[in-house]
Amino acid sequence: MNVGILGTGDVGRALGTGFIALGHTVKIGARDANNEKALAWAREKGANASAGTFRDAAAFGEIVILATRGAANESAITMGGAENFRGKVLIDTTNPLDASGGMPPRLAVSGTDSGGERVQRLLPEAQVVKAFNTVGNALMFRPELPGGPPDMFICGDHDEAKRKVAAILKDFGWGVIDLGGIECSRYLEAMCMVWVLSAMRANTWHQAFKLLRR
Ligand SMILES: NC(=O)c1ccc[n+]([C@@H]2O[C@H](COP(=O)([O-])OP(=O)(O)OC[C@H]3O[C@@H](n4cnc5c(N)ncnc54)[C@H](OP(=O)(O)O)[C@@H]3O)[C@@H](O)[C@H]2O)c1
Repeated sequence: MNVGILGTGDVGRALGTGFIALGHTVKIGARDANNEKALAWAREKGANASAGTFRDAAAFGEIVILATRGAANESAITMGGAENFRGKVLIDTTNPLDASGGMPPRLAVSGTDSGGERVQRLLPEAQVVKAFNTVGNALMFRPELPGGPPDMFICGDHDEAKRKVAAILKDFGWGVIDLGGIECSRYLEAMCMVWVLSAMRANTWHQAFKLLRR
C-alpha cells in the first residue's frame, strides 16, 4: 500500500519506519521538497521510502497520515491540496498543544471542539480517524511493555475507515478501542495531556494506556 505522511517530525518518521517494516511504500512530506530530515530518512530507509512536499505525500498516499504540529494542521492541509485527500482515509495523529508557556503544554482547543473535528471539517470528503495521538513516538510501532500490548483509542465518523485503521494498528502491535464519532477527539486530545502529565511525574516517556476489562 502507498502511504503518504505529512510531517517530518518524530511521529512522521516513526510511523513511516513502521509502515516500511511492514512492507508498505511511504512518501514523507514537508513544507519544502528539500527538507533535510525527510531526505535523510528516505535515504536511510531505501527503495520503498521517498520524500517530497506535503502535496506530493498527500497525492501519493492511498492512505494519508497527518503528523504536523497541531497549530499548523490547517496550513499543512492547505499545502497538501484538498483534492489529494478526497475519498481517502486520513489518520490524524495530532494534538492541539500550545507549549508557548513552557512544559507542560496546554490544550489550545478543548470542550466543545477539537483538533480532530477541525481536520474533518477542513476535509469533509476525507475519512478522518484519530489515532496514535495518545502515546509517544518511541512506542508507536510494536510497543514492548511488561503488561503486554497496550490499547490505542481511536474515533471517527466512518466505520469502514476505522476498520482499516484498526487493521493497521493490529499490524503495529496494538489493541484497538473505538470510542465513536470524530467528536470523541475532544477526549482523546485531553487524554494526550494525561499521558504527558503522568510521564513527566514518573520521569519516563516509556508508557502507554491499556483498558482492563472482564
Ligand atoms: N512527538 C510525539 O511523540 C507525539 C506523540 C503523539 C502525538 N504527537 C502529535 O503529532 C504531531 C507531530 O508531532 P512531532 O513531534 O512529530 O512533530 P512536530 O514538531 O509537532 O511537527 C513537525 C511537522 O509540523 C510541520 N510544521 C511546523 N510548522 C508548520 C507550519 N507553520 N506550517 C506547516 N507545517 C508546519 C513541520 O513541517 P516541515 O517538515 O516543513 O518542517 C513538520 O513536518 C503533533 O501534532 C504532536 O502533538 C506527537
